[in-house]
Amino acid sequence: MKALVFSKIGEVKIADVADPRIENEKDAVVKITATSICGTDLHMVRGTMAGMRPGTVLGHEAVGIVESVGDEVKNFKIGDRVVVCSTIACGECEFCQAEDYSCCDNANPKGPEAGTAFFGGPELTGPFNGLQAERARIPYADFVLVAVPATVSDEDALLTSDIFPTGYMAAEMGDIKPGDTVAVFGCGPVGQMAIASAKLMGASKVFAIDTIADRLAQASQQGALTINYSQIDPVKTLKSLTNGFGPDCCIDAVGVDAQAAHSGPAKPGMLENIANTIDQKMMAPHSVGSGDQWRQGDAPSQVLMWCVEAVRKSGVVSIVGVYPPQAKFFPIGLAMSKALTMRAANCSHFKYVPKLLKMVEEGKFRPSEILSKVERFGDAVECYKHFDKREPGWIKVELLPGQKAAAAK
Ligand SMILES: NC(=O)c1ccc[n+]([C@@H]2O[C@H](COP(=O)([O-])OP(=O)(O)OC[C@H]3O[C@@H](n4cnc5c(N)ncnc54)[C@H](O)[C@@H]3O)[C@@H](O)[C@H]2O)c1
Ligand SMILES: [Zn+2]
Ligand SMILES: [Zn+2]
Repeated sequence: MKALVFSKIGEVKIADVADPRIENEKDAVVKITATSICGTDLHMVRGTMAGMRPGTVLGHEAVGIVESVGDEVKNFKIGDRVVVCSTIACGECEFCQAEDYSCCDNANPKGPEAGTAFFGGPELTGPFNGLQAERARIPYADFVLVAVPATVSDEDALLTSDIFPTGYMAAEMGDIKPGDTVAVFGCGPVGQMAIASAKLMGASKVFAIDTIADRLAQASQQGALTINYSQIDPVKTLKSLTNGFGPDCCIDAVGVDAQAAHSGPAKPGMLENIANTIDQKMMAPHSVGSGDQWRQGDAPSQVLMWCVEAVRKSGVVSIVGVYPPQAKFFPIGLAMSKALTMRAANCSHFKYVPKLLKMVEEGKFRPSEILSKVERFGDAVECYKHFDKREPGWIKVELLPGQKAAAAK
């Protein structure tokens, strides 16, 4: 079958790979009917999430149809339409019982301390082949697949595979109560879902920080007040818009590939530049090259710093932007002296996906509103390049397999 594989840092390609098969009685094989590209995939191709095994199929967001099931799969049968949760969990260990699925003790073959198991990730996450393929093997199918209600579209289900639950979890970890003020750093797909979720939870004001015009415009369309960090200082602006206090909650929806301000008052000085360079080298010692393609973040801990500086005293910083295990810089002194609460996690998808699909079914929210491109799977490599460069219009890309025509939105 055809699949999108990681070949080396700075290179993905479509390749012929072996068809997946049932390897364990709890497995299912799913024929993928739609998949999408995520900011997490970009960290891996840029090399800021290291340790990818060449030949690994990328991708962890998909909807599809169950094609075969192992004897121990109880909840699914051939022909069921399903959304695939990005993270893999056994459903039975102590952590899964507590709905901390991203902490599952059994799913990761590298052991209980190795971290979250997910599709299409680096060596330490399994590794498991991903979902940007014609078919995928789904381990622990009963706790990784969720049935899609008949009235929910493939597009809405696809965005509930990862980014909607992640944005929702970010808002939930932020302890947002009606009337709260919330700042969301990063207006990529995850940031957009965090903005929507903060509003669903009753935030009175949501501030959205980025520097890419169409992403800020999308945030503004959702009712957020936007801050372009290359034009104005985000920390000072957030303070001045919240009576000098700072927002009740700051959400990091950027992660390790954060870029410093390259113009305006927030542009780093010489000493900060040196610190950023050290920080960057610790994260990704092997640069991919020059130019705009696969450009690594030049200030990996910039957003963490802004979140801690901007949030009100005794407020909450909620981190869903991804950082690799070697990330070591966090402004702990300031956080401590401001009495902050900090939460950070990979999404426990299976906890959220059923609930969020129900919200979609009831018409409370349509995550597919942020889908900006629908393209052929055969063009996936080009799509990766456009999304990586954050080109106008490339906020979220759905890839359709086979000959299905691209119905650009
Ligand atoms: N925790 C989880 O389970 C989980 C799940 C999905 C994605 N993620 C992570 O969430 C993050 C966002 O994903 P995405 O798909 O939206 O990625 P993306 O790359 O499309 O979006 C990141 C956005 O951050 C902006 N940005 C860069 N530097 C910034 C700064 N200093 N201040 C404010 N904004 C800045 C970029 O311009 C971009 O719009 C990634 O780190 C991804 O790995 C985490
Ligand atoms: Zn994702
Ligand atoms: Zn488990």
